[in-house]
Amino acid sequence: MARGMLPVITMVVALTAMALAAITPMASTPVEDIIYVSSENVASEESMRGLYERWYMLYRRDGDPIDKEKRFAIFKAEAHAVHKLNEGGARVKHNLNWFADMTQDEYAESFANCSPLEVRSRNERKLNLHQPSEYYPDKLPLTVDWRTVDGVLTSVKHQGNCGSCWAIAAAQAMESVHFLKNKKRVNVSSQEMVDCTNGNNGCKGGRASRAFQYVINKHGIHSSEQYPYVGNGSHCTTPAGPPVMSIGRFIFVHRHNEKKLMDAVALAPIVVSIRGTNSSEFMRYSGGIFRGPCDTEKRHQALLVGYGTMPSDDANDPGVKYWVVKNSWGVSWGERGYMRIERGHEADGGLCGIMRYPLYPAHPK
Ligand SMILES: *[C@@H]1O[C@H](CO)[C@@H](O)[C@H](O)[C@H]1NC(C)=O
Ligand SMILES: *[C@@H]1O[C@H](CO)[C@@H](O)[C@H](O)[C@H]1NC(C)=O
Ligand SMILES: *[C@@H]1O[C@H](CO)[C@@H](O)[C@H](O)[C@H]1NC(C)=O
Repeated sequence: MARGMLPVITMVVALTAMALAAITPMASTPVEDIIYVSSENVASEESMRGLYERWYMLYRRDGDPIDKEKRFAIFKAEAHAVHKLNEGGARVKHNLNWFADMTQDEYAESFANCSPLEVRSRNERKLNLHQPSEYYPDKLPLTVDWRTVDGVLTSVKHQGNCGSCWAIAAAQAMESVHFLKNKKRVNVSSQEMVDCTNGNNGCKGGRASRAFQYVINKHGIHSSEQYPYVGNGSHCTTPAGPPVMSIGRFIFVHRHNEKKLMDAVALAPIVVSIRGTNSSEFMRYSGGIFRGPCDTEKRHQALLVGYGTMPSDDANDPGVKYWVVKNSWGVSWGERGYMRIERGHEADGGLCGIMRYPLYPAHPK
């Protein structure tokens, strides 16, 4: 328990500063399965119990009853912390999501530590580098959001207790590129990549680049109907039937270059690495523009699906620039499964290193 409490305390200090920033209301539709925390909820042991039961029915219905009592203590601390953070109209919102009864270590193991650094050889850097479009650098769209284009993105996934973020991000990037080229929807199997990719570690983490390499070597990837997601590492099998799609290569976007990344994501969604995911701020994020901290070294991979700028009421304030990221932690996390994260910080590779290792799959020529 003591270990679980520590991040709670440090986080309150970090977020007080953030809450002082101007308050901008956010337009988002509440999702049915989100549990909000009110002062009444945290007032007594009894009300806390009621809140836990509601949460439990949504997230741990089939849980072990002995474990349930033990975890009530973690949940209570989490509910208090979340309530405190949301007080005073904090700009970044937090809620009791799927992680609310997990210790920081449990969360970190499957969710925050899912992807080591991307690697790229000198040759890959030279040969397979994003070629900027005719819109680069001065005619880039002000806003890009692939969620608004029907067919490009499939539903938000939940990786479960499996460090498969890299496979899910890779699968979704391939689904998008297939749709954009052929106007055909497919559900690409991330489980096949979890089970079969060489040089990756299955549910213990991996790199999207190796998942793409697997698909290139195998001349295709099967669908999640042919090779369903089980959320644990199993034996690599070859499903019946032909693969549903293939890619010819994968392409890196220049590092530390905001406009080139904007240009690339305007053409199709991009796999990005995000540093600093092992923090309670990241774990509890439920809305607004995330501004860190990202000070832990653990990494995650997710899908970049757009960018924009949140306007400000003050004519002299240019507003807050952000990226839109699709995560694989279900719809109870973030803005229905997505995160807006501050854009800028180019010299540092972007907030949480988001501009450091972007890559995307490309069709065979
Ligand atoms: C995640 O953070 C917690 C709390 O700071 C720390 O105890 C734990 O070792 C970290 N886990 C990983 C995998 O980095
Ligand atoms: C993809 O999966 C979704 C959700 O399971 C399903 O509704 C859809 O029909 C699938 N698409 C294809 C092309 O199989
Ligand atoms: C993986 O998940 C499947 C489906 O839930 C289950 O049948 C299997 O026993 C699991 N394997 C391991 C090693 O946990």
